[in-house]
Amino acid sequence: MKELWQSRTSFVLASIGSAIGLGNIWRFPYVCYECGGGAFLIPFLVALLTAGIPLMILEYSLGHKFAGCAPLALGSIKKGFEILGWFALLVGFGIVTYYAVVMGWCFNYLGFSLNLAWGENTQAFFFDQFLKISESPLQIGSVQWLIALGLILTWIAIVASIWRGAKTVGKVVYFTVLIPWVILIVFVIRGVTLPGALEGLRFYLTPDFSALLNYRVWLHAYSQVFFSLTIGFGVQITYASFLPRDSDIVNNAFLVSLADAATAFVGGFAVFATLGYYSFQSGLPVSEVVKSGPQLAFVTYPTIIRLLPFGSVVFGVLFFLMLLTLGIDSAFSLVEAGAASLIEKFKLKRTHVNIGFALIAAGVGFIYTTKSGLYWLDIVDYFMNNFGLLLVGVIMCIAAGWFYNIKSIREYANGKSDFTIGAWWDFCIRILTPVVVGALFITNVIDRIKASYGGYPRIAEFIGGWLVIGIFVVVGLLLFKKKRRT
Ligand code: PHE
Repeated sequence: MKELWQSRTSFVLASIGSAIGLGNIWRFPYVCYECGGGAFLIPFLVALLTAGIPLMILEYSLGHKFAGCAPLALGSIKKGFEILGWFALLVGFGIVTYYAVVMGWCFNYLGFSLNLAWGENTQAFFFDQFLKISESPLQIGSVQWLIALGLILTWIAIVASIWRGAKTVGKVVYFTVLIPWVILIVFVIRGVTLPGALEGLRFYLTPDFSALLNYRVWLHAYSQVFFSLTIGFGVQITYASFLPRDSDIVNNAFLVSLADAATAFVGGFAVFATLGYYSFQSGLPVSEVVKSGPQLAFVTYPTIIRLLPFGSVVFGVLFFLMLLTLGIDSAFSLVEAGAASLIEKFKLKRTHVNIGFALIAAGVGFIYTTKSGLYWLDIVDYFMNNFGLLLVGVIMCIAAGWFYNIKSIREYANGKSDFTIGAWWDFCIRILTPVVVGALFITNVIDRIKASYGGYPRIAEFIGGWLVIGIFVVVGLLLFKKKRRT
């Protein structure tokens, strides 16, 4: 028998827990910064409303209606779409391999906050002392054992949290969802009272309409929405399949999506206010004060922590604990979804699957703990999000919109929900999202043929990008072909 959530609250919290994660505090600000700050918010909002929320409703409906994990639920539309379910989970696997490393950094920074080890130059500390970053992804260099240790601790924590499946998850999330908000608000208050903060906030909040013509900003907006809401991973489908039969869908989808976006938006105030402070100190414009990229949160937040009027150590510890609690329920949602899917199809033992999953993912993760780790992380992150998740999103829309009676899915969702959705939803799923995301996807492929991502050597781009995607397609196919055990 399927385990059910013990209450609507624990489902909503678990689904929010999966959505809200490092994506809000770590990924959102740097993607936003790289896209020019205020240029990003409008596309982000459009992507949230026209693709994020509609797809959240779709994933919930599919999981609930077909009462199965992602491969089974998508396979119920048409047998072949089962591959999409496996591919989605594998893309999620690709993401969680580096995601756990970023959590490992958090473990390290938790230790560093005891004596504020990062000092004044948080950027130099991160690159030179902590990562000891090499010159290029091809100069791999040795494993940094502190980071590796953080990675191992992370995986132990993930496996421990899901030991008994949804029952434990329902309890852990009370702690991993509610505490972070309190801490975040303290940081926003300190951030916005720093000298120069206003300049940073202006950069963050002033819309730049000319940037709306740049397809890259839209591409990143869509992929960030997918990443942040945990859409296209097969996770929300699986979580919804655990819901009791009479649960609400539409209301929950709005609640989770809006809570997620709000968390990212609020966190942005702290980060961008700090960038304004840097600009004030260095005389450089906000757009140039830090090297943009995955290190942004690890540069700005330590600065805020050091500048708190009192209790820096306490808040430093709390902040990195918060990041860990935020990250952990996202990470385990993926393991949970992967495990549930494998168990559903092959009748494997839960503990075996969980441990196997953790060992493989942690093993792969070691590449990101080397001196070249940040480069590989950047490449894999880019490909998983902009190619992997978006591809899943488009095909899922096509599957539900064109190979199934989309109206019946909408009626199903409406029949369960406090408030209902209209034909606009069918339009978003059938036409708007596939056309817009499909076009962005193709433009991006053409761009990548012209030049490698981020100027990395072609071979690194190939290994970290196309090869990984290719492997996932093949493994997805194999899992699909393998006989179901009854
Ligand atoms: N939604 C998560 C976040 O924003 C991303 C994620 C989901 C990462 C599932 C790993 C696994 O952090």
